[in-house]
Amino acid sequence: MTLARDGARSALNTLNRPFGKQRLQRRLREQGNHGCSLEIGAYETTRSGWITTDVTWRCKNYLDVTRTWPIDSNFISNIFSDNVIEHLSLYSNRFFFKEAFRTLKPGGSIRLITPDIGALVEKYRSGWTFSTDLVQQLSSEGYLIAHGVDLLRFAFQDDGHDAGYLWDCDSLFTELSAVGFCELKSYDLGQSDNPAFAETDSRIGTPIAEVMLAVEATKGQ
Ligand SMILES: C[S@@+](CC[C@H](N)C(=O)[O-])C[C@H]1O[C@@H](n2cnc3c(N)ncnc32)[C@H](O)[C@@H]1O
Repeated sequence: MTLARDGARSALNTLNRPFGKQRLQRRLREQGNHGCSLEIGAYETTRSGWITTDVTWRCKNYLDVTRTWPIDSNFISNIFSDNVIEHLSLYSNRFFFKEAFRTLKPGGSIRLITPDIGALVEKYRSGWTFSTDLVQQLSSEGYLIAHGVDLLRFAFQDDGHDAGYLWDCDSLFTELSAVGFCELKSYDLGQSDNPAFAETDSRIGTPIAEVMLAVEATKGQ
């Protein structure tokens, strides 16, 4: 059953790809010289004023961040990506950050949200246990939460995270700086100095918000 479902999903993704690529090109052309705000790995999310992209058929506009982006340099005003970088290898993330830097306008910003491994480990070591809310939320999503150690196991193993790279604030700052980003800053979910990110974060107020890292960086003028 799962194999059949995975096969159907993969076929839909493949079938959608050329149309999704065309739709992205059309949306980009519609922006003229004004540039735009771009979301990466948005799944089904749509937002007014944003072009949302993903590799899945669930999203209208196709963009695989691990391949050269079909977007002019210095075109995009803001880039947002929520819970995506922990699904990509370090090398794929480096490619993502380089393409983000290339396509952003000078002065443009990127905001990345990902599980904060530093915060998780600190909480685990200080005896933090799952709140009832968090256990309920994760259980309802099909995750097995039996012991405190699941806090770590969940982050490292579940939801495809085993294939991706896991982050703390220092590692993310260092990798973003390495491709040229400056003005690195971390925020709580829902906080930003950039009005473009005022309503982007979807996990505000959920039990996992406190173990999420939100980082912003700017392409200098
Ligand atoms: C955990 S989901 C997050 C979805 C949404 N941003 C959210 O916060 O709920 C990770 C998303 O990253 C997308 N993704 C994975 N690899 C990608 C890639 N190479 N390029 C773009 N998106 C990718 C997946 O298709 C998926 O929709």
